[in-house]
Amino acid sequence: MKLPEPRCAGGMSLAQALYERRSIRAYAETPLTLGDAAQLLWSASGITSPEGFRTTPSAGATFPLETYLIAGAVDGLAAGVYRYDPAAHGLNRTAAGDIRADLAAACMNQSCVATCAAAILFGAVFERTTAKYGDMGNGFVLLEAGHAAQNVSLQAVALGLGAVAIGALDEQRLKSLAAMGDNEKPVYMMVFGKPNS
Ligand SMILES: Cc1cc2nc3c(=O)[nH]c(=O)nc-3n(C[C@H](O)[C@H](O)[C@H](O)COP(=O)(O)O)c2cc1C
Repeated sequence: MKLPEPRCAGGMSLAQALYERRSIRAYAETPLTLGDAAQLLWSASGITSPEGFRTTPSAGATFPLETYLIAGAVDGLAAGVYRYDPAAHGLNRTAAGDIRADLAAACMNQSCVATCAAAILFGAVFERTTAKYGDMGNGFVLLEAGHAAQNVSLQAVALGLGAVAIGALDEQRLKSLAAMGDNEKPVYMMVFGKPNS
């Protein structure tokens, strides 16, 4: 499915978003809008040039990351796991149903994962980058995930959303929950919701 177009003008200044960024782990039961989910995905890996370059830099433009939206409560989107297609700025569903409880179990039972409205999970195909850079490419992939997650984190602040990075991931369980390809590994995740205040 096609997502709402990204909004690139107006909004909070970058310095303000940096100042306000904090890990937020308690969320209201309010769903995310589809527009906000689309904006978060675009900030992670949206295409911003005719050559296919993206919001996040990539070592040698090898683009090892795959970006998944895990939708629990997103208005206008059935609960499930969706792979983001940057070229189409759209989503392809890889798994159906609300997997937040299983997701939390795959992340050391962290309550913010169980109660988030949605999550963005980064999978990586390391070979895309190691084919060009050898072993050094393994580090490049993780650096790139950090760039993407920081984009998402600051975009969340600008949208008035709470977010926290989740590094405690059970690789095998997450891989299976997101129905990732054989050559792909989960590397990092961000979870979101309206702050509970
Ligand atoms: C690589 C990485 C992994 C993290 N993993 C988790 C996590 O699994 N669960 C969690 O609640 N916070 C996690 N965090 C968030 C940190 O706990 C948080 O950034 C830190 O306490 C500083 O707070 P602040 O983000 O509000 O400045 C992680 C942060 C990073 C950079």
